[in-house]
Amino acid sequence: MNAGWLAGDVALITGGGSGIGAAVARRFVQEGARVVVLDRDPDRLAAVVAACGDPARAHAVAGDVRSSEDLHRAVGEAVTRFGRLDTLVANAGIWDYQRQLTRLTVAELDAGFDEIFAINVKGYLLAAEAAWRELVRTTGSIVMTLSNASFYVNGGGPLYTASKHACLGLMRELAYELAPKVRVNGVACGGMRTDLRGPESLALGGRSLAASFDRMPAGRRPPIPLDGSSVDPADFTGPYVLLASRAQSGAITGQAIQADGGIGVRGFATAAGGDHL
Ligand SMILES: NC(=O)c1ccc[n+]([C@@H]2O[C@H](COP(=O)([O-])OP(=O)(O)OC[C@H]3O[C@@H](n4cnc5c(N)ncnc54)[C@H](O)[C@@H]3O)[C@@H](O)[C@H]2O)c1
Repeated sequence: MNAGWLAGDVALITGGGSGIGAAVARRFVQEGARVVVLDRDPDRLAAVVAACGDPARAHAVAGDVRSSEDLHRAVGEAVTRFGRLDTLVANAGIWDYQRQLTRLTVAELDAGFDEIFAINVKGYLLAAEAAWRELVRTTGSIVMTLSNASFYVNGGGPLYTASKHACLGLMRELAYELAPKVRVNGVACGGMRTDLRGPESLALGGRSLAASFDRMPAGRRPPIPLDGSSVDPADFTGPYVLLASRAQSGAITGQAIQADGGIGVRGFATAAGGDHL
């Protein structure tokens, strides 16, 4: 039996094929858990299972978080293969590349809203619906990937910021509704160098946040107090382990840990400008 804060636990991670989801999968296995990783990109899944280091402790499910059927299948496979489900990490998401309201047509607004909310918000709700019965059985927990955009402006445009504020509300509501059996918390990550994509409906599906990071000159980075510490998603996984661990956070529910380099201490401290209005 592995030692670790999550020894014996089983977790389902949505959007675990890349970025913070993949980093959480690797870290959870290091902490003694077994993981089921769901992603819509099947090519990435094999790599994540291999990176977890022990094929007996990681299982891949190809699926889309907009499909309740896919999510129920993932929960079913967790139970069939590993016998239980202790933690749901609701994580799959897309970004709007900070597209401002005044730079969206009505058609783009309509389609972009539907796509972003279907993945970022409904995807979390459908995952919670698929998982809650098994989580009640194990007195387990849900950990949602939130964002600095769950609290502050200018971490996205109106579509992304509204979606991540909605996830904060969803986390708090479910913490109330699923108590006392299931704890529900969030990790509000700040900027990480990941492959985060945009909506297909805004022709941003091919963009990658990592490429934007790499193009950004050092002097143009947003003024974040801990800037320079890390943008590696692996360095953001600790709060997920803490919140998933019954022993370490059994009394914590309805809370978001802000792992954002201190953005909230001073904000982004820039005005929008509005020169184009
Ligand atoms: N990268 C950042 O700076 C940052 C900051 C704060 C919060 N976040 C949040 O982190 C979460 C993960 O994003 P990431 O940065 O790791 O990006 P990522 O693109 O590297 O990983 C997201 C994964 O989700 C998958 N995915 C997307 N839509 C899906 C769907 N409909 N069904 C199934 N899988 C789907 C993708 O294929 C990808 O593997 C998102 O919720 C994002 O909002 C990211």
